[in-house]
Amino acid sequence: MTEPQIQNPQSQIANHKSRSPIGVFDSGIGGLTVVRGLRRRLPGESIIYFGDTARLPYGTKSAETIKRFALEDAEFLVSRGVKLVIAACHSASSVALADLERQLTVPVLGVIEPGARALCAATRSGRVAVIGTGATIRAGAYEQAIRRLRGDVEIVAKATPLFVPLAEEGWLENDVAEAAARRYLAPLVAERIDAVLLGCTHYPLLAPLIGRVLGPGVKLVDSSEETAVAAEAMLGQRDGGMEAGRDEERKAKPGTLSCYLSDLSPNFETIGSRFLGEPLGDVLRVSVGKG
Ligand code: DGL
Repeated sequence: MTEPQIQNPQSQIANHKSRSPIGVFDSGIGGLTVVRGLRRRLPGESIIYFGDTARLPYGTKSAETIKRFALEDAEFLVSRGVKLVIAACHSASSVALADLERQLTVPVLGVIEPGARALCAATRSGRVAVIGTGATIRAGAYEQAIRRLRGDVEIVAKATPLFVPLAEEGWLENDVAEAAARRYLAPLVAERIDAVLLGCTHYPLLAPLIGRVLGPGVKLVDSSEETAVAAEAMLGQRDGGMEAGRDEERKAKPGTLSCYLSDLSPNFETIGSRFLGEPLGDVLRVSVGKG
């Protein structure tokens, strides 16, 4: 017979936290690319996803509005009992991360720092590019993060906003997508960069096209994968570890995914599965903030 295990209060807190879900928010459904990376890397973790489809896009809005929206999105996740909030939206991470860190009661992870780190590791020549929405490029957060890590890099930052509707439309390889990619990426080719950071939730879907237009010598850095690596490190480090069910237990009991959207647009299921890489399952509509 095995002895009943007596836990001290501290480890009970740690266990409680470890079983709590991770919260992920985005301006819409694109942030499911980050969820895809998390589910691959941390299959034992349960995830609550909130996509602000009613107020999308964020990438064209002012920093002030994005900050307000991001805080409301994150507070919704905190109210669901998450142990960590991940701002999957690059536009929100670029302008609102410091405010989120200051105002939330749980740790926060954005996509900027992990992406910048991976970009610095990927480049040989020190000539790199960042592509993203207008809000992300205007904020300059990627450039600041890259420079903090490596002062000697040359950075080309380019807003490529049309990639967002192209990805949502599923136009990933056709003539229109190709023309947009050639027009947007020509300056990057001319600058002879050797690594580009896909600084938007939607861009991993366009990676094959972007890679083809930039040519074989350019490495594509996907922030969504790097964010999962950073989340793993963060959960392992904080409060003596908040990672759900390690090793054997983790394999036996996969984490769940609960999705909430602020508007159930007619084609959210099709688009959502494309970003997530698997069927979306049940999705609930929820209102956050005052609009
Ligand atoms: N999720 C946004 C981002 O990563 C793209 C879509 C939008 O503009 O809201 O910046």
